[in-house]
Amino acid sequence: MNVNVLKIAALAGDGIGPEVMREAIQVLRVVEKKFNLNLQITEAPVGWAGLDAAGEALPKATLALCKASDAILFGSVGLPDRDPTVPKEKRPERAALLRLRKEFNLYANLRPVKLPAALAHVCPLRPERQGKGIDILVVRELTAGLYFGKPKKTEEVIEAQAGPHQPRRFHRAVDTMVTTTPEIERIAHVAFRAAQTRRHKVTSIDKANVLENGVLWRDVVTQVGKKYPEIALQHMFVDNGAMQLLLRPDQFDVLLCENTFGDILSDEAAALAGSLGMLPSASLGEAQGMKTFGLFEPAGGTAPDIAGKNLANPIAQILSAALMLHYSFGLDDAANAIHQAVAKVIDAGYRTGDIYTAAEPKARKVSTTEMGAAIAAAL
Ligand code: IPM
Ligand code: MG
Repeated sequence: MNVNVLKIAALAGDGIGPEVMREAIQVLRVVEKKFNLNLQITEAPVGWAGLDAAGEALPKATLALCKASDAILFGSVGLPDRDPTVPKEKRPERAALLRLRKEFNLYANLRPVKLPAALAHVCPLRPERQGKGIDILVVRELTAGLYFGKPKKTEEVIEAQAGPHQPRRFHRAVDTMVTTTPEIERIAHVAFRAAQTRRHKVTSIDKANVLENGVLWRDVVTQVGKKYPEIALQHMFVDNGAMQLLLRPDQFDVLLCENTFGDILSDEAAALAGSLGMLPSASLGEAQGMKTFGLFEPAGGTAPDIAGKNLANPIAQILSAALMLHYSFGLDDAANAIHQAVAKVIDAGYRTGDIYTAAEPKARKVSTTEMGAAIAAAL
């Protein structure tokens, strides 16, 4: 056995999280044998599971486990309809997920969106609109911008009225968009470096016609781009970018976005690739030599409507595990083996409900566990 122990914190979370995490761990165990690795996978509660177990969305023991690990494999958190008495600052989205991103300085979110040829028919675009195919890497800034800017608050406003009228009372919500030059520089470098290994094109998304943040973003990305003369850089306003994704998605290679814009456009791009259930993501901090600490999670959510029914597509979680092997452990052969196994199973016609259509002759409708087992077997 390989002496090099790789420590993985597995935080399944809520909704479909535990179901898809089980399949990803099963696949990792097969990879471990096949490539003679030593994976130490420790599970811990997060999200509502953390609130239930320890009264906090990110229990102290879970955070300590993450700190002692080489990577975090994350499921999903947040059930919008659960317990409205829990205040927003303590709810899983902010108290667990955003907190982990900030705590570990995971500023670079990579979301590879690829429509497999075998799933071209589940793409909502007509075939002629799909052009040469959809293969986009969304690079989303993850620790700045509108998500983290201060002040962030809701306050009551009391406005005096003329004459005998009572003052008018209402609420004002404030979110602040703040991005600094170093924050834009580092994420721009991530995008340009990624483009070097792809089709050599970066499309940078902003709202420079309205927002100060957009003007600075465009200037800094342009400056960084000069260091990469072999990469074609294009700027696009976010509204146009949203439209272009629907009209001509094959023009995009790397799509570089501010936090909020990247959140929105990555869901849109995922829909083009067939299903949110297929989209993995890597959230990375600064590289340490060849390895980078990261949090790896499906880009889709907890899907409460199908949770607990063995219906969810585990592929996004399984591909997130592959991204972990690649980025945090430098195990490219093992990561590629997972990608190939997923491709094989898709080609063979295995379909969870999100990617199933009765019109497809060789399609075989399967459950979460059947899909996971098929991928493990293909490995
Ligand atoms: C995502 C999610 C999160 C985000 C939510 C759950 C806080 O939508 O990772 O895209 O907005 O970043
Ligand atoms: Mg999102």
